[in-house]
Amino acid sequence: MADQNPESVTLTIDSVSVTVPPGTNLIEAARTIGIEIPHFCYHKRLTVAGNCRMCLVDIEKMPKNQIACSTKVAPGMIVRTRSDKAVKARQGVMEFLLINHPLDCPICDQAGECVLQEFSYHYGTGGSRFEGEKVHHDKNVDLGPHIVFDGERCIKCTRCIRFCDEITHTYELGLFARGDHSIIGTFPGKSLDNAYSGCTADLCPVGALTMREFRFKQRVWFLRNTPSVCMGCARGCNVNLGINENRIWRITPRENEAVNQSWICDEGRLSYLPAQQAERLGSPVSSRAGGETLEEILSESALEQAAGTLSEIARRHGGATIAAITSGHATVEEQAALRQLVELAGGSRIALPIHERGEDDALLIRKDKTANALGAKRVGGANTTMEDLLAAIRTGQVRALIVLREDPLGDFGAEALAARGALDFLLTLDWRVTPTVKAADVALPVCAYGEMDGSIINFQGRFQLVRPGLAPFGESDPAWKPLLEIASRLGGAAAPKTFREAFRSGVARMAELSSLDTPALGKMGISLDNLSPQKS
Ligand code: SF4
Ligand code: SF4
Ligand code: FES
Repeated sequence: MADQNPESVTLTIDSVSVTVPPGTNLIEAARTIGIEIPHFCYHKRLTVAGNCRMCLVDIEKMPKNQIACSTKVAPGMIVRTRSDKAVKARQGVMEFLLINHPLDCPICDQAGECVLQEFSYHYGTGGSRFEGEKVHHDKNVDLGPHIVFDGERCIKCTRCIRFCDEITHTYELGLFARGDHSIIGTFPGKSLDNAYSGCTADLCPVGALTMREFRFKQRVWFLRNTPSVCMGCARGCNVNLGINENRIWRITPRENEAVNQSWICDEGRLSYLPAQQAERLGSPVSSRAGGETLEEILSESALEQAAGTLSEIARRHGGATIAAITSGHATVEEQAALRQLVELAGGSRIALPIHERGEDDALLIRKDKTANALGAKRVGGANTTMEDLLAAIRTGQVRALIVLREDPLGDFGAEALAARGALDFLLTLDWRVTPTVKAADVALPVCAYGEMDGSIINFQGRFQLVRPGLAPFGESDPAWKPLLEIASRLGGAAAPKTFREAFRSGVARMAELSSLDTPALGKMGISLDNLSPQKS
């Protein structure tokens, strides 16, 4: 009997009635009522290939089992996923898939998150009747700079091929030869080197595609996943930080329909590697002895020195001579704290350096390599360019400069060096030792990515939380803390003690958001345009 409502279709799956939009396939329809139909080749963001046959289900009035991934719902359809007919079919599929699969599980990187392993346990027979020699393929093939292929583990689901054809449109991969000689490979003269190649390892349901940078480094069950946001560009892709022993071992995509769907780029995925090689600033340093070299000082005396010098310069030359460089790499709370300090000291100039590279692409990558430039403008009060600020320093209009997570001496070279010579006081807050840190009068250590809570606003105006999974290095703090402690020494309010308080005081600067609190952002963030929280 046809559904009365053309907007929906009602059917029965395992005796449970389910109503879904027309055109929904049986895997997705079953998912809505918590029933898993096992599958390998199906992925909701790729076209249906229907080649693994793992999703076979028993449909009343149909003599043979049907694959759920390519079968659309129909009114009154009665589907059984656990009937003898369906169970037996799945067992047969598992047996076939495992005939040529090597017994690699103990040494396979996918172990612990391998769909084949899990389905073998849940839906297999636990044994094999195969007595011949398994087909052998090459086990360590470089498909590209980041992806290593094991031909014996591949179950030919073609997810990797479809990703390169349908998502990146780079067409590097193909399925070559026939029968049990079938093998995935790159077309002649091609390498799997598109900017999103790591996503093929995420998509691969078995351990056939692995990331060179991660393989054999960690067992996945040792990793704790921290849900966070990539700060590699203005997209702010949602990610999981795989952490063990206070170290990030891999970054993988976290699904967010509004931001990155299921993907991340290779640069963001591997951004933890250069960060781990950087020389860290672990303690406050000062050149107050007047010497060339910086010496470590106590945090308290660094804050006192900074506050004392800023108020002395404001008294002698006027508060307007105090300026700042904010950063799109900083969080909203840090940008707000910097602005608060500058304004309290009587200054107003806040420059925002631009970090652009390449071009925006059609998928995720943005040429703006900062995650929070919008925050710097909307909350952090950025109001001038680096060129104008450096000119103001050279002409004596600025005598004291506070630099947040930026390296003007490294990025602007001689121009910035000349400006440094004209400054009476340079205070910088950074997580690495940079040329600017080395030239500072006082440098304060701040947390690196993954070490602190914070919020950022991506280029679409999506307000999202970055989360900590690592302990702060040395005496590092989120930058809002020392900035507001200096501000409180200049007569400002007491510095917030917690991230939530810092967030509240930061967003309070945006009138339209002044009632917002951290829980509202959840794991998926919210759009500033409509402030409609997404399900987390
Ligand atoms: S390499 Fe992985 S994703 Fe590609 S076809 Fe084989 S099993 Fe599927
Ligand atoms: S597109 Fe940008 S935000 Fe997304 S993973 Fe790549 S660098 Fe990170
Ligand atoms: S998931 Fe349906 S055939 Fe592979």
